[in-house]
Amino acid sequence: MTPRRIAVLTSGGDAPGMNAAIRAVVRAAAARGLTISGVEQGFEGLIRGTIRPLTPRDVGEILQRGGTFLHTARCPAMLTERGRRDAVRQVNAHGIDALVVIGGEGSITGARALAGMGVPVVAIPASIDNDVWGTDMAIGVDTALNTIVETVDKLRDTASSHQRAFLVETMGRNSGYLALMGGLVCGAEMVLIPEVPTTPDEVATAVAAAYERGKNHAFIIIAEGAGLTTHEVASHLAEADAGFDSRVTALGHVQRGGSPTAFDRLLANRMGITAVDALIDGRTDHMTGLSGRDIELVPLEDVVCQSRTANLKYYELMQILAT
Ligand code: F6P
Repeated sequence: MTPRRIAVLTSGGDAPGMNAAIRAVVRAAAARGLTISGVEQGFEGLIRGTIRPLTPRDVGEILQRGGTFLHTARCPAMLTERGRRDAVRQVNAHGIDALVVIGGEGSITGARALAGMGVPVVAIPASIDNDVWGTDMAIGVDTALNTIVETVDKLRDTASSHQRAFLVETMGRNSGYLALMGGLVCGAEMVLIPEVPTTPDEVATAVAAAYERGKNHAFIIIAEGAGLTTHEVASHLAEADAGFDSRVTALGHVQRGGSPTAFDRLLANRMGITAVDALIDGRTDHMTGLSGRDIELVPLEDVVCQSRTANLKYYELMQILAT
């Protein structure tokens, strides 16, 4: 059945470009003659039934804004049978024929669960972690990476002035993508990522080697899921007398904010229209994924049973360039 009324929601951790994706979905749906509603606060709002109509005018002036104007939430209720049943009930009560879910791994798992209960769903990957399988890039990753670059470049000024080691923590949950790519493009001496277990001694050796080579500073980018914290590494460096005095910076939620980059806006636009067309064509239970230059539809079933990990060829490249 061709859908007449669709709804869009953003779920999980926000990511820059979510607004651009909502705008693309709303305007593409209107252009294709569909009625569209927005669900407030992700699956939480779906379960509560906080759903309102959206028109192309409602999504003006959001393209350039970070965050999500529909708001978002983590939703433990979606992990329960009861919560999912309530969500389906609201979908039916509001006469919604199909759903676009914009979010990361957990949200896509929620989308898959609803699809399994008969709700036509297309998901759009949006998460700064870049851990969603089936897409080269999720919406928000490029902006977060640019925030990391901007911040580490600033830290580099003070690190060089004082000849210090900086231990910088990035987000990423269980994925080392942000730390690895951030480390590579910021010229870090070392990155600590979940995909490559590293000991404090190995970090001390790398920092001491950078000191002996006459470097002005040493940057170690540590993924939050690496298994060693910035403070643990800092105290080990002090004990090991690795040369540089060290300081710790956690980039934290600053990585999730800010105006989306051109790359993220373009990705959001392309994925938004692809999602709407997929619903119209009946290609539901899929996610939009970037594959090389193309936006493709990837079965949700494949997406949810796999995790995307950092590509270790970049780890090797970073090591070569850090010398
Ligand atoms: O998934 C995005 C993310 O920012 C992760 O990198 C991080 O571990 C988590 O969300 C933080 O979640 P919250 O904002 O709920 O504390």
